[in-house]
Amino acid sequence: MTTALPKPISEPRTRTNFNKNWKFLLGDEPAAKSPAFIDTKWRKLTLPHDWGIEGKFDEKNPAKPEGGGLPTGIGWYRKEFIAPVDFQNRLITIEFDGVYKNSEVWINGKYLGKRPYGYSSFAYEISQYLKTGKNIIAVKVDNSAQPDSRWYSGSGIYRNIWLTSTAKVAVSNWGTFITADNSGKVEIQTQIQNKTLKLQTVVLINSVYSTTGKLLVKSKAQTAKTDTSGAILKANLEIKNPVLWSVENPYQYKLVTQIFQNGKVIDSYHTKFGVRSFNFDAQKGFSLNGKPMKILGVCLHHDLGALGAAVNVRAMERQLEIMKKMGVNAIRTSHNPPAPEFLDLCDKMGFLVMDEAFDMWAKKKTKNDYHLNYPEWHKRDLEDMIKRDRNHPSIILWSIGNEIREQFDSTGLAITKKLVRIVKNLDKTRPVISALTETDAKKNFIYQANALDIYGLNYNHKLYKDFPKNYPGIKFLATETTSALETRGFYDTADSIRRWPKDGKTKFMEGNKELSASSYDNVSAYWGSTHEETWKEAKKYDHVSGLFVWTGFDYLGEPLPYPWPARSSYFGIVDLAGFPKDSYYMYQSEWTDKPVLHILPHWNWEPGKSVEVWAYYNNADEVELYLNGKSLGKKSKQNDDLHIQWNVNYEPGTLKAVSRKNGKDVLTREVKTAGAPAKIELIADRKNIKADGKDLSFITVRILDAAGNVVPSADNMVDFKLEGNGLIAGVDNGFQASLEPFKANYRKAFHGLCLAIIQSTEKSGVVKLTATSAGLTATAITINSNK
Ligand code: GAL
Repeated sequence: MTTALPKPISEPRTRTNFNKNWKFLLGDEPAAKSPAFIDTKWRKLTLPHDWGIEGKFDEKNPAKPEGGGLPTGIGWYRKEFIAPVDFQNRLITIEFDGVYKNSEVWINGKYLGKRPYGYSSFAYEISQYLKTGKNIIAVKVDNSAQPDSRWYSGSGIYRNIWLTSTAKVAVSNWGTFITADNSGKVEIQTQIQNKTLKLQTVVLINSVYSTTGKLLVKSKAQTAKTDTSGAILKANLEIKNPVLWSVENPYQYKLVTQIFQNGKVIDSYHTKFGVRSFNFDAQKGFSLNGKPMKILGVCLHHDLGALGAAVNVRAMERQLEIMKKMGVNAIRTSHNPPAPEFLDLCDKMGFLVMDEAFDMWAKKKTKNDYHLNYPEWHKRDLEDMIKRDRNHPSIILWSIGNEIREQFDSTGLAITKKLVRIVKNLDKTRPVISALTETDAKKNFIYQANALDIYGLNYNHKLYKDFPKNYPGIKFLATETTSALETRGFYDTADSIRRWPKDGKTKFMEGNKELSASSYDNVSAYWGSTHEETWKEAKKYDHVSGLFVWTGFDYLGEPLPYPWPARSSYFGIVDLAGFPKDSYYMYQSEWTDKPVLHILPHWNWEPGKSVEVWAYYNNADEVELYLNGKSLGKKSKQNDDLHIQWNVNYEPGTLKAVSRKNGKDVLTREVKTAGAPAKIELIADRKNIKADGKDLSFITVRILDAAGNVVPSADNMVDFKLEGNGLIAGVDNGFQASLEPFKANYRKAFHGLCLAIIQSTEKSGVVKLTATSAGLTATAITINSNK
């Protein structure tokens, strides 16, 4: 099918989504670059697309379990489309937000170029290759050289594509740079391109609008002469009494940059921005708009669990909502530039962002990773990240790399200086950082380059205390912490905290049976620490500007320390399906003001067993625990405790906790001994979704006993049937070692829960999901999908 593009442009600039009507082949087909190639047998699909997540888990897949154990390889995409009728007078650009990886693009058989780095956004101007009527674009994606990543990357055109049409004199792609101070002074830099082959005179006007669309201030008209090399213009404006962007009130302004020629608007370019200031201080830590605050961050990889790497705005928004509820105020986009929509969400929802460029420079971490492209591409990739992202108010830090090998030898000196220079040339308003592990500064060549603004330390939480003594005057951020291991719903007590693996030499042997790590927060990797160990240190010292916990969510790949079939990580505070593990509530009790009381574990044990009962709480003086109505005593946190604990001789029934302040009850929580699985419950995160073919409703599936309690051991197979205008985009249960496919209409429950993700189509109507399971009462839920 041929896609028609928008009619002759009445608007000076159009940006159209280019995701529909692609053909796809998994495999190599060099002839496909030719317009004459017949692709009728290829599969038709809509982007974004990740072929890895559609595949089968296999230990032998070349990406290895570290890469998620899913297929990689080579794939081809083709699309036939009609050029806009006026293309000869226009500048038509195709923008790729990201292709993993080694993309090569042909239009009508002409080679446009390649882009090795799978996380970079890039664009090609295609006007000169277009012809009237049908045109063919072909994209080869080569992710076959493996292993190439320490986590699951996904494969394919996994982010959006856009087609932009402008006049031949227009604002360049990512062509505005806005800086503002809290008094409301705004400085705007505009890059204009001129593809007319002639000198042109244009007039530029910048206008700032409020969130509600009210014109606040307009610049004087600036006249510019631009030859074919383009022009850069600067303008200054002032917003009276600006509303500041903050984590609590993420207020954004809109800048409209208009180019006029002969009295007519020939371009109109929109950029959102925020007015805010921030500071890192060596003693006092971080402040936003003059107000001290700790950066309470998590590291996130880019996969969206069962949806893989394929970008979906609602899936990213849900992840951020879950993080926000926990009290998170910052995200580190480990270890690569994210999708542009992710940053838009952070701007809108009020998250601070550490935007990271690389996981390696010229020295490798895996055989076929970016080190191969680094020499030729690092400048371009880093510059493009800064140019694309520098107007986001959420971004407060540029990271030039994570645990880079060059910190250990003198080649790190020159590279660090060079990369910092690249960043500062494009943006001097944000500090540059790198996440370091070599703790002896004298031996750390990235630190020794003396070019970074802040010392970013990964792990080593015992070093926080004396940092100001050891590094007087140096600003400090815990760029990565913790690496605790947990499996949701699995509980295993231990006399002392376990480090799994114990060290770099010992083969990991313990705890392999269930491929599960305890949710009592008593296991971490040997280089890391438990959630409580880490947060206790980080919260103590003002000079610790903040921390980024590894990680907010479990992610595909890096199933350390477990062997196959483990295929996704255990580090998340929330599992891969989006279900919080217990530590979530420790953070919530510390990082939010809202009253929290959470007790663990479940209440199904062998009679007589001594069970550790933990409670995380806040906003209360004490918590009293009752078993079957009998008090087991009151407890309150002492010193730096983050939880309280009872040892309870198990008997079935009801365990109840009540938190109290000044003698008054604040919250009550109960866990009951569950009987045999009897029925299924479905809970939608949203019952009304948009009929746009993208929106999602996340349906939590709970296996209940007859009395309505979640059965903690339930692993029933649940079958799904979907009717109406929707589809099942993915299923999951959060178990890190499940080899069931994510694209399916069935899933086993894991510790009583699983998840079905419903996606809308472009047709409005009711979507009905029915869940059945042998021996259980079936149930259904309806979702409304509307335009
Ligand atoms: C860190 C690394 C992360 C992840 C983590 C696992 O050293 O920066 O990417 O591998 O370890 O604990």
